[in-house]
Amino acid sequence: MFNFGVMASGAGSNFEALLKQIQKKRLQAACCFLIVNNKNCGAAQIAQKNKIPVYHISALTHPNPKEYEEAFLTVIEQYPIDFLVLAGYMKKVSSLLLERLKNRILNIHPSLLPDFGGKGFYGLRVHEAVLKAHRSWTGATVHLVNSKYDEGRILGQSMVPVFKNDTAEVLAERVLKSEHKLYWKTLRDYASSLGY
Ligand code: GAR
Repeated sequence: MFNFGVMASGAGSNFEALLKQIQKKRLQAACCFLIVNNKNCGAAQIAQKNKIPVYHISALTHPNPKEYEEAFLTVIEQYPIDFLVLAGYMKKVSSLLLERLKNRILNIHPSLLPDFGGKGFYGLRVHEAVLKAHRSWTGATVHLVNSKYDEGRILGQSMVPVFKNDTAEVLAERVLKSEHKLYWKTLRDYASSLGY
């Protein structure tokens, strides 16, 4: 049994998939909070529906950079979390947070890293690049977060075929489905490797 917090920016389907696995008792864990950088995103609504506290931290709520960084610590210090899970979080994680939660922050990325990762590779752009490179396989990667975009230790990957007539949108949907299966299992296995 372990506790985690989530950070998200978008629709929140990965976040919701994790909550579903907890409800089904496949993932022996509790989600303590959600941090979003956009208070109207789908992920925030999913948290509200599930009675999970939501915190909005952005350059709008915290225009001062130092206060912005500290706001994350103020939230995480209120909860006994073992992991911080990035589920479609599109902002850079502050160095204060990285130091505090070393090897405890996980991210999911919609490609087979190290391919199609790094600055500028997010959302549909990743799938557009995969199609442009005529790859027959793509996939999803769960990795630890460090100070470089998408470069932390890889914890798990799933492979997804690319079909001839795929558009970036169709491919994104197929990869997203595989993310929902990959994330909770990788989180469970990583936690278990650390003795949880
Ligand atoms: C997911 O495909 C995730 O891998 C991607 O954003 C999507 C979020 O979807 N993340 C990145 O591109 C991070 N570089 P969701 O909000 O429905 O979980």
